Amino acid sequence: VFGNLVVTGMMGTGKSAVASLIATETGRDLVDLDDRIEAGAGASAAEIFASEGEDGFRDRERAAVSELGRVRDSVIATGGWTMADDESRATLESLGPVVCLVASAEAVAGRLAADARERPVLGSAPDLARVESLIGRRRSTYDSFVLQVDTTARTARESAAEVQALVESAGSVAASAIPVASPTGGYRDVVGSGLLDAIGPVLSAVGLAERVAIVTDDNVNALYGAKAMHSLEGAGAVTARVEFPAGEASKNLSTVGDLYNALVAAGLDRTSTVVALGGGVVGDAAGFVAATYLRGLSLVQVPTSLLAMVDSSVGGKTGVNLPAGKNLVGAFKHPDLVITDPSALRTLPPEELTGGMAEVVKAAVIGDPELLAQLEDRGAPDRDRADDWARIIRRAVAVKAQIVGEDPGELGRRVVLNLGHTFAHALEHATGHRIAHGPAVSVGLVAAARLAARTGYAQEDLAEHLGRILRHLGLPTRYAGPEPEALVRSMQADKKRERGNLRFVLPAAVGDVALVTDVAESDVIAVLGELRDPASMPPTVPDPE
Ligand SMILES: NC(=O)c1ccc[n+]([C@@H]2O[C@H](COP(=O)([O-])OP(=O)(O)OC[C@H]3O[C@@H](n4cnc5c(N)ncnc54)[C@H](O)[C@@H]3O)[C@@H](O)[C@H]2O)c1
Repeated sequence: VFGNLVVTGMMGTGKSAVASLIATETGRDLVDLDDRIEAGAGASAAEIFASEGEDGFRDRERAAVSELGRVRDSVIATGGWTMADDESRATLESLGPVVCLVASAEAVAGRLAADARERPVLGSAPDLARVESLIGRRRSTYDSFVLQVDTTARTARESAAEVQALVESAGSVAASAIPVASPTGGYRDVVGSGLLDAIGPVLSAVGLAERVAIVTDDNVNALYGAKAMHSLEGAGAVTARVEFPAGEASKNLSTVGDLYNALVAAGLDRTSTVVALGGGVVGDAAGFVAATYLRGLSLVQVPTSLLAMVDSSVGGKTGVNLPAGKNLVGAFKHPDLVITDPSALRTLPPEELTGGMAEVVKAAVIGDPELLAQLEDRGAPDRDRADDWARIIRRAVAVKAQIVGEDPGELGRRVVLNLGHTFAHALEHATGHRIAHGPAVSVGLVAAARLAARTGYAQEDLAEHLGRILRHLGLPTRYAGPEPEALVRSMQADKKRERGNLRFVLPAAVGDVALVTDVAESDVIAVLGELRDPASMPPTVPDPE
C-alpha cells in the first residue's frame, strides 16, 4: 500500500507527466485535478476562464479539491495555483506527502511553447519575460513546500524517480517552509517535527549533500549528532562531524581556529556544506566559519534550542566574541537553508526553553498580535508537543523573516528586533551574566512597554498586559541587582546610543513598534526604579566569563 501522493508546482514543470508516470509504475490511480474540473464543466480551463472568469475557475477548483476527501492510493496532480487557497492546501496536505516541482523560467517557457494548449493564465506561446514575472510573483508559495524536485534538466522519467526517492526518505515528515528574502537570493526555513531524520534527503534535494561537515557542540552531538550523520550518509553525502565544548565561553576565535583545522582535515572544499547543528552558539560560530573558510562555503542552519529556532538561525548574522565584548567579530552569512525540527526541544533544559519564550514574546509584540493572544490563552506547549511548537515557531520565524527580508544588512528597520534588548544587555552586563539572556529580555520587554507609556507612545495597560503573559510563561518582570543609574551607565557604553540621548525600540501597541531616539535619561531611570525589586532573586547561572 503506497497511500496518496500529491504533486504540485507551476504549469510547465511537468506535474501531469510525472504524476502519471508514478501512478502507472506503482499501480495507483491518477487524479488530475485540472482534468476533473474540465470534465465536470464540460469545457476546457481556458473556456471556463473566458466564460466564468478566474474566480469562477477557482470556485470550481475549490469544490473539486473538497471532493477529494475519500481518495485512496492515488497520485494527485494539482493545478498550478491550487495551493494558493489555504483550505485547498490543507485538504491536499492531509491526503499525503506533497512534492512541489520547480523549473527554471527558460525550461517552463520552452515546455509551454512546445505544447500548444491554451493556458488560461499566460495565454498561448507565453514569452520568457511573462513566465519569469509569474514565477516571481508565485515563488513564495512554491517555496513553502519542503519537498521539491527541480525538473529543469531532468526527463519526466528521471523527475518521477527523484520524486519517489524523496518521498520514500522524507515523505512522512509534516513540514512547511517559510521563505526568507536575502541578498543571496533567499532561502527557506523548513519547520517540521521529525526533520532531523530527514536532513540527508532534504539537503540532497537542493544539491547540498555531497561533502558535508556537521559542526556542533558536545551536548547536542551526544543527542543528535549520530542521527544527522546517519541521515546524511544515507543520502550519499561524505560526512564529517566536529564538536566543541558547549557554552558561550566557546564562542571565540580559538574555537574558530580549531574548526578551520578540522575542516581541512575533513577535506572540505569550496563546494562543500557546513551544517550548524545546535543552539545559537553553534549557529554563530559555525556560521562564521562557513562565511570565511575558503572565502565561504554553503551553510545550513539546524537550530536545536528555542532561541536558535525563533531567532539566531534566521537573518544571516554570525560571529564570535572577543575578550573585550560579545559578537565583536563577525560576518553576514545568509544560510542556504534552515532546517528546524521542534522535536529537539524535548531534550532542551527547561530554563533554556523558558528563556527562549522571551524571544517568542518579543516576536509576537513586534509583529504578530494573534500569536501573543495564543500565548496568553494557552501558554507554552508541553515540551514534547512538537507540532504545537512547530506552529509557534513558524509564526515567530515569519515575523523575523519579514523584517530581515526588508533590511538584510541591518541598516534600518531591522533595529526593531532589538525590542527589550537594550535593557536586557545592560542587565546581563551589569550583573556579570548572573541574569540569563531570556529572563533579562523578559524584564526588558516590560521596561520598554513602561517607558513607552511614560513617554506617551503607549497606553499604560500594555506593560501590565505583557507582564501577565510573561509571568504566566515563567519569566520574571522585575529584577534584583544594580541601581538604575548603574544600568543606564552600562547602556551609554552600548552602541545603541545617539548624540547624548538614549535610543530605544518602543512598542506603541502590540504589532506596532518603532525606534525612538530622544529618550531622556531620567525617564529610563524612573522606569528601572519601578522594576527594581531586591526581593526578586535573579536566576543563578554560572558566570560565563
Ligand atoms: N546570530 C543572531 O542573529 C543571534 C541572535 C540571537 C542570539 N544569538 C546568539 O545565540 C547565542 C545563544 O544561543 P542559545 O541560547 O541557543 O545558547 P547555546 O547555543 O549555548 O545553547 C544553550 C544550551 O543548550 C544546549 N542545547 C541546545 N540544543 C539542545 C537540545 N535540543 N537538547 C539539549 N540541549 C541543547 C547547548 O548545548 C547549550 O548548552 C548567544 O551567543 C547569542 O549571541 C545570535
